[in-house]
Amino acid sequence: MRRLLVAGNWKMNASVTSTEQLLTGVLGQLGSECDVAVFPPFPYLAQAVQTLAGSGVSVGAQNVAAEEAGAFTGEVSAAMLADVGCQMAIVGHSERRTLYGESDELVLAKTRQLLAHGLVAVVCVGETLDERKAGREEAVVAAQMALLIRDLAVADWDRIVLAYEPVWAIGTGETATPEQAQAIHAFIRAQLQQVGADVAEKTRILYGGSVKAANAAELFAQPDIDGGLVGGASLDATEFTGICRA
Ligand code: PGA
Repeated sequence: MRRLLVAGNWKMNASVTSTEQLLTGVLGQLGSECDVAVFPPFPYLAQAVQTLAGSGVSVGAQNVAAEEAGAFTGEVSAAMLADVGCQMAIVGHSERRTLYGESDELVLAKTRQLLAHGLVAVVCVGETLDERKAGREEAVVAAQMALLIRDLAVADWDRIVLAYEPVWAIGTGETATPEQAQAIHAFIRAQLQQVGADVAEKTRILYGGSVKAANAAELFAQPDIDGGLVGGASLDATEFTGICRA
């Protein structure tokens, strides 16, 4: 059985004070229903690790360098993330792909860095509205997964979580219907058969895009949806823990 994971992507929203308040609020309301992870901006990672110590809630970064170390001004390496106690990082979020031009090759290189340092990679895929209107969502997602499927070893998949996030549902209040989401999650899992039946069965595939406490239960009830990558709603402790309970 795949254990559900609810991951909170704070994006570029935090302060020392709000990080403390949000995490304390989350800890106060959280049960042990599922795996939980939060992804604060870089400056608040160490604080989050400290606040969440012993709670079972994981901390991850929203991005990572594709390089190991050295003269890469402004970059943060996977080794540094591991050093401050992070367990995961998001790679290939649609905002990074569209706003910062991140390619599938770069996403693969970043994923490799995370794996090399013992971290879990939460790799995002998903189509734009135009691509969906053109009926190309499966082709787009398959292309985004192709390098991972080709280049990673079977054992690497123990530390990969996929997140399907239709770009048209991110921050728009518009959610894919549970049926739409399930259909593409099943397609993603079928793609993983190329790596192996075991990998296809075990890999967690999260849904992301306007997940809220009110729609989470229906989404998470789908057989191939293994939790959520939550943006806006992860900034509210009650809403976020409501999603975890769902
Ligand atoms: P949203 O963002 O929940 O605010 O739609 C999801 C994401 O971008 O990870």
